[in-house]
Amino acid sequence: MTSAARLRRCADVESFREAAHRRLPQIFFDYLDGGASAETTLRANCADFDRFQLRPCVLRDVSSCKLDAEFLGGHHDLPVMLGPIGSLGVFRADGEAASFRAAKCAGIPACLSSFTVTRPERLSATLGAGAAFQLYALKDRDRTEAVLDRVSGCGFGTLFVTVDTAVSGIRERDIRNGLRMLSQPSLRMVLDLLSHPSWLADIARAHPVRMALAEDWSEAGEGYLEQAAFLARQIDPAFDWQGLAWLRARWHGRLVVKGILTADDALRCVDQGVDGIVVSNHGGRQLDGVSSSITALGDIAAAVSGRTEILLDSGIRRGGDVAKALALGASACLLGRAYVYGLVAAGEAGIAAVLSSIRAELEVTLALLGLRSIRELRDAGPGIVRQISGPDC
Ligand SMILES: Cc1cc2nc3c(=O)[nH]c(=O)nc-3n(C[C@H](O)[C@H](O)[C@H](O)COP(=O)(O)O)c2cc1C
Repeated sequence: MTSAARLRRCADVESFREAAHRRLPQIFFDYLDGGASAETTLRANCADFDRFQLRPCVLRDVSSCKLDAEFLGGHHDLPVMLGPIGSLGVFRADGEAASFRAAKCAGIPACLSSFTVTRPERLSATLGAGAAFQLYALKDRDRTEAVLDRVSGCGFGTLFVTVDTAVSGIRERDIRNGLRMLSQPSLRMVLDLLSHPSWLADIARAHPVRMALAEDWSEAGEGYLEQAAFLARQIDPAFDWQGLAWLRARWHGRLVVKGILTADDALRCVDQGVDGIVVSNHGGRQLDGVSSSITALGDIAAAVSGRTEILLDSGIRRGGDVAKALALGASACLLGRAYVYGLVAAGEAGIAAVLSSIRAELEVTLALLGLRSIRELRDAGPGIVRQISGPDC
């Protein structure tokens, strides 16, 4: 099936997910779709949005609804951005460039992962307003500084430092599938790869794939798998609040801490003078058993009380999810898997289609709530949502 045909059949993020499942080898689909350990938090991230019900106000003039929003110091067409996802270029050749183009076209920012396979320099021309780079602090401070200089030289003005990955979560699907053994594939893996010829042909175009941050480090090895493993080993498990203070002093642009789930940690971020935080559990890929982001948001927003900007990710699949997060205190949401499903299914056009489905849902949600703009939604606040109790996941 062509990308255009695939697009016509996709109405929402879930249909892009199904299309992505058909196109990707199972080993990569599981890497994208899966979470840590028993995947309790992964499931809760989406399910908990249903625990917040919306309270509409009728008989209001909603003949025009505006979705543009202020966040991260800029004015954007939607209160949404594309979050950092490693190895996009393995899910779809040129995945990072396609994502930045789609974001620019939609008038929203995107964030490039440290695990990019595209060199940041190649993206300079595609960077739209608010372009961000996501950093994992490395054990070697000089190397970390070199990354900061490199990405700031490329035009990335905002830095997201991810802090919920001191060690990697245990992803059981990847263990079962033998993801780490991909360089010496079993017969089952070879059959899995060969039975997805359109993905294989696409990725062959991108050959040789490299890990952009590590490819110039001689000890990192030659190929993508070796370099990715090397880069993962360089992430500093000792990076702490002092490290964050160092980063605050060293990075002169906007600094956002990604991976906050408690009010205490949010307040420490405020004390350190960061520009924003992302309430996130890494899409349920790190510590299983923590609360969903949407459940954690209310307490954090109340504690922070406007002293730093709050974004949210983990589980956003619909425009209605974005509306709930904004009512509960976020200024914008990051998409993760949602846009990657679109990318896998149909490239840049697939991301554009995911964004338009989220935009359309958000617009209808706003109008039916009796609100005419994102500002009105944020001003309405938690009063327009009601948390219902239910059985734990
Ligand atoms: C395949 C995959 C790779 C990811 N890579 C990174 C990364 O390199 N850096 C990072 O900060 N977060 C990374 N994340 C986490 C996302 O930025 C985001 O927090 C998460 O996907 C949100 O959950 P959702 O996908 O359910 O919306 C990754 C997530 C996935 C699914």
